[in-house]
Amino acid sequence: TQADAHIEIMPGEPIATISPEIYSHFIEHLGGVIYDGVWVGENSKIPNQRGVRTAFIDAMRAVRAPLLRWPGGCFADSYDWRDGIGPASKRPARTAFWGQQDTNQYGLHEFMRTCRAIGCKPYLASNLRTLPARDFYQQIEYCNAPAGNVPSNSAAPAVPNSFATERAANGDVTPFNVDIWGVGNESWGCGGNLTPEEYAAEYRRFTAWTPSYTREPLRFVAVGPNGDDVDWTTRLFKALHANPERRHLWGLSVHYYTSGSPSKFAAGDALQFNDADFYDLLTRGSIMERVVTDHWGAMADTDKEHRVKLVVDEWGAWYGKGTELAPEYNLSQQSTMRDALLTGITLDIFQRHADKVAVANVAQSINCIHSLMLAQGDKFTVTPTFHVFKMYLPHQGAQAVRAEFKAPDIANPLANAPIPVGGNSYRGSLEAVKTLAGLSGSASVATTGNGKVLTLSVVNPHLDKALTTEVAVRGATIASAKGTVLVSKDVHDHNDFAHPDAVKPTIATVAGPAGGRLLHTFPAASVTTLELTLA
Ligand code: AHR
Repeated sequence: TQADAHIEIMPGEPIATISPEIYSHFIEHLGGVIYDGVWVGENSKIPNQRGVRTAFIDAMRAVRAPLLRWPGGCFADSYDWRDGIGPASKRPARTAFWGQQDTNQYGLHEFMRTCRAIGCKPYLASNLRTLPARDFYQQIEYCNAPAGNVPSNSAAPAVPNSFATERAANGDVTPFNVDIWGVGNESWGCGGNLTPEEYAAEYRRFTAWTPSYTREPLRFVAVGPNGDDVDWTTRLFKALHANPERRHLWGLSVHYYTSGSPSKFAAGDALQFNDADFYDLLTRGSIMERVVTDHWGAMADTDKEHRVKLVVDEWGAWYGKGTELAPEYNLSQQSTMRDALLTGITLDIFQRHADKVAVANVAQSINCIHSLMLAQGDKFTVTPTFHVFKMYLPHQGAQAVRAEFKAPDIANPLANAPIPVGGNSYRGSLEAVKTLAGLSGSASVATTGNGKVLTLSVVNPHLDKALTTEVAVRGATIASAKGTVLVSKDVHDHNDFAHPDAVKPTIATVAGPAGGRLLHTFPAASVTTLELTLA
């Protein structure tokens, strides 16, 4: 049989260990994300664990969510963490970002409870726009100060820390031990409309001193660019580098959304799209690779040893209005097979750049933008994106290795459409990226009880062309192969409350290897993971 495409995997060319945290999550006080999506309340008839929706916990556990970001997004920069602690009945209701009323029934302790139930670490986004630096370090103290008498290194007697005492009175004796903190959010926009130099000054002030209770320094994440705005990164790094406090910088946040329309930010329809829209969206989603490499290059101007890593803490396809669960569930758009393909393309990019991307948070986990779950009252479904996250689990913590994918590119039919103005997505690189890879993916090697296992994930974005592909491993022969595939009759297919299993993965039909190689047909518009054992 003649092969349409070729994949060669090079186990001898390791890239880096794939940080499990590139499979991280994000929930914001926005529409139906927190209230209803995550938090149903302890007295709800909807199954819950101390107020947190059980189905949400189960799905997050199923994808082994490593890290959960909260409370925003833009919400974070007008949120006072003190409003969300103490007796629930005494908490103030506030008008919050996104023009909604927040009852503060879901606060810091409820968030930590959510993380504990999932088994993930918390990632807190702090308020840099409307709270002073004092609130930042006091929130760290509230979260992390140990209980009991704290030995003092001064002549003062050992006494309990008052924030730890307050935390204990609010239900949590044990510290939350939050080790990763976002210092503001989108400070170039909703987070303050700052210039990189102005933000750098704030960042230095916020992080110059913070309380520390472990030997490991806290991981502080600075606000990075709007999409591929390399100028922000270059100027920010220059401004931070001028000051020795730069050592407090662990990661640079990057937000990159793919919009469903070339003409404006967050437009297009989640469900109604034609073939040209489909290819255009995936092409612009794949620009994520340039976003990663461009910023990495810019960071190297001042951070030559690359001590600072990329934290892509918001990504996904963001469509216009029309498919929300209800008007008050702002941005709770539907998610189709098209979005599953974008998920695979994006996760593969992160894995191919495992040396650069340390954390990535899909925006958002439930009821918002590129969701893994949709929920409304007692109704719940997972989306095709959830299935991709689950299929990619073997990559978590494995060694990314180089792989070459050879298949003819697909020309983006909308390549010459106007470049969008504004929004946090695209800009310059759009001009340069006019084609979509005809086949893309990533490979990793993990050592298991059964020896070394190689995982290959592959996205075939062709709408109507299955690709018979020769898969080879340089310097080794493939002894056996099995796999899972996510594919549906139509790329518009999706799950809804009445049809939660309309799109789900199946076992892939994999022929036995011949001559140490595999000839495998990747169906049109599919995401596949193959598990290969080597001889
Ligand atoms: O995820 C929705 C919003 O997108 C976030 O609040 C903000 O950070 C970004 O603009």
